Amino acid sequence: MTINGTSKVCGVIGCPVEHSVSPMMHNFFSEELGLDLVYAPFLVQPGKVGEAVKGAFALNIHGLNVTVPHKQAVMEHLCGIDEGALAIGAVNTLVRQADGYKGYNTDAEGILRAMLEAGMDIAGRTCILLGAGGAAKAAAYVLVREKAAKVYLLNRSLEKAQGLAAEMDRLFGTSVCQAMALDDWREIQEEHCLAVQTTSVGMSPHAGQAVIEDEAFYRKLDMAFDAIYNPMETKFLAMARAAGAKTENGLGMLLYQGVAAYELWNPEVRIPAELAARARERLIAHLEGRRLEGRR
Ligand code: ATR
Repeated sequence: MTINGTSKVCGVIGCPVEHSVSPMMHNFFSEELGLDLVYAPFLVQPGKVGEAVKGAFALNIHGLNVTVPHKQAVMEHLCGIDEGALAIGAVNTLVRQADGYKGYNTDAEGILRAMLEAGMDIAGRTCILLGAGGAAKAAAYVLVREKAAKVYLLNRSLEKAQGLAAEMDRLFGTSVCQAMALDDWREIQEEHCLAVQTTSVGMSPHAGQAVIEDEAFYRKLDMAFDAIYNPMETKFLAMARAAGAKTENGLGMLLYQGVAAYELWNPEVRIPAELAARARERLIAHLEGRRLEGRR
């Protein structure tokens, strides 16, 4: 790809940002679509997000992704926030406007598209959401909006689960959410559940752990989704698979939040399914390559 004077610049702000696969994905989209747009990683220290957004605007940066730890802090530095992002309480995509950036959250759309593609139906289903952090908020929003019959929210700190449950029920005018401590899963009577794992437990380099390690839990599940994609099969997914559940890792969520962001920055573009599939293959190859390197 040739960068020239007319190239649009997008990027990701985060800390750390070195391991982000977003530059690879977005530059691949641009190359394949023949768009004059480049995407770069920007390391932004905690507390510096306001300056970064102001600087980005002054530098005529076209759009940004926002990752840990800035997804909430960035919200006060924007000229507008999309309704969904406001409801979720986190922004992961900035779209340039005349007077600043408007914030969006494409994680919710990412998780929904990934689940639908994996054949995981939400409507009418009992769902068990593990975690109450940033990723959990996007997942809870999707599960309630897509009319889950029940959403059990389990988290290590119960107050956070209670806060999220109350917030989602208030937002959608429902009473489907129930907060619980992690160990209280035994109180869940339903079977054939869809579990969505959003905690950081099991993520590389701490693979080999699952937030719930009792096999009996996994026998309650028909389907298990893990927001983690490295490793590609977490212990959570391995245990769910062993119990006979359909499983899906977080790669599709990563891919589709990126697709949605790219389409927000380029409203005239729709990324074809075939291109998304090739981007997924590249992400997998990259992640497998990194694991091989790690073993040496
Ligand atoms: P993200 O933005 O990826 O969701 P986060 O907001 O830091 O990250 O949330 C991390 C989630 O993993 C939280 O639900 C956290 O539980 P607490 O709210 O109790 O902190 C959960 N988590 C992290 N380490 C955990 C552990 N060792 N056991 C159980 N839950 C853990």
